[in-house]
Amino acid sequence: MKDQFLLDPNATFLNHGSFGACPRVVFKEYQNWQRRLEFQPGKFMTHEVYHYLKEARDDIGKFLNCNGDDLLFFPNPTTAVSNVINSLQLSAGDEILMTQHEYGALVRSWRASAKKIGLTIRQQPVSNPVTTRERFVKEFWSGVNKNTRVIFISHITSSTALIFPVEEICSLASKAGILTIIDGAHVPGHIPLDISSLNCDFYTGACHKWLCAPKGVSFLYIKETHHEQMSPLVVSWGAEGDDPGPTELLKNFQWQGTRDMSAFLTIPAAIRFRKDNQWSIVQEKCKELVKRTADQLQQLLNTEPIFHGSHWLGQMISHPLPTAVPSDLKLMLWNDHQIEVPVFQWQDRQFIRVSIQGYNTWTDIERLIYALKTLLS
Ligand SMILES: Cc1ncc(COP(=O)(O)O)c(C=O)c1O
Repeated sequence: MKDQFLLDPNATFLNHGSFGACPRVVFKEYQNWQRRLEFQPGKFMTHEVYHYLKEARDDIGKFLNCNGDDLLFFPNPTTAVSNVINSLQLSAGDEILMTQHEYGALVRSWRASAKKIGLTIRQQPVSNPVTTRERFVKEFWSGVNKNTRVIFISHITSSTALIFPVEEICSLASKAGILTIIDGAHVPGHIPLDISSLNCDFYTGACHKWLCAPKGVSFLYIKETHHEQMSPLVVSWGAEGDDPGPTELLKNFQWQGTRDMSAFLTIPAAIRFRKDNQWSIVQEKCKELVKRTADQLQQLLNTEPIFHGSHWLGQMISHPLPTAVPSDLKLMLWNDHQIEVPVFQWQDRQFIRVSIQGYNTWTDIERLIYALKTLLS
């Protein structure tokens, strides 16, 4: 499987979660689109590209079970969510409820708006380790009060790599009239996602992570009732541009002058790659490896896991490191063992996060365990 990717064959790559990795066939398709653009730039950009963008939107819409016209493409989830923040009519005193596990860039985005508008950001603590979905929901929901206007929560968290029970939270929020913005950066192609039954207001996902598209492919789902209030952070030609729409939303967001759309157009190829390689079987094997990795890390590091039960896990596992680890452990793993794996601080602890994708094998984990044993002894 690793031959099908463009990864360095001499490195042990256990960091799919950060930037993904693109299979050769999908990357070739990316370059084909760029060549088509360069062959006839004017014709392609002013006439043809919209048809192919619609195909890409419809394909990812089918994959996520939502209407393709409820989706906008963005280069990354931070840009997508920043456009939502810009569009909501929030005022001083409104509260945004989130967990302590949210992605740093997005917490900063919210804080910047909070400072400007006078919002309160409430990062509700939940037990560590997380145990049952019910307990998590109860603890999180106790952060709701009469000022809560928005719930912003990850479906799969970045540092802690946990699958959060967003289904229950969206259901409670819609009954309470609270808007939900779900950060599913890690979700498309990682765990099943049915946006229509989730009934959230906004959902962002990155396709360059677990769907293995080239970099710069993310989407924002916007429930139809919110289309009208959406206002782009970057105002471009809108209805005066070449984009035929069909909706105002698309005209206002999609056309951004000379922006290269090639990466977005690879979505059908990325979805085809999964089908051609029986990806659900591949993923089951990856999840088994993740569980075995969790056991090995716990045995070796002798620190308490941050979750009880494998229902919190997908294809990543984050585990706390002992307190006395070298500060340059990540660099040592790379320099001495050619292993790329993130080591970082979350709250007051150091963590290691291991991602398992189809190109990884148990040998990669054995290499990691051996390297950690050597470096930490
Ligand atoms: C949970 C989560 N949200 C959002 C993002 C968005 O990343 P970016 O900085 O590319 O917008 C990431 C990236 O790793 C993430 O893990």
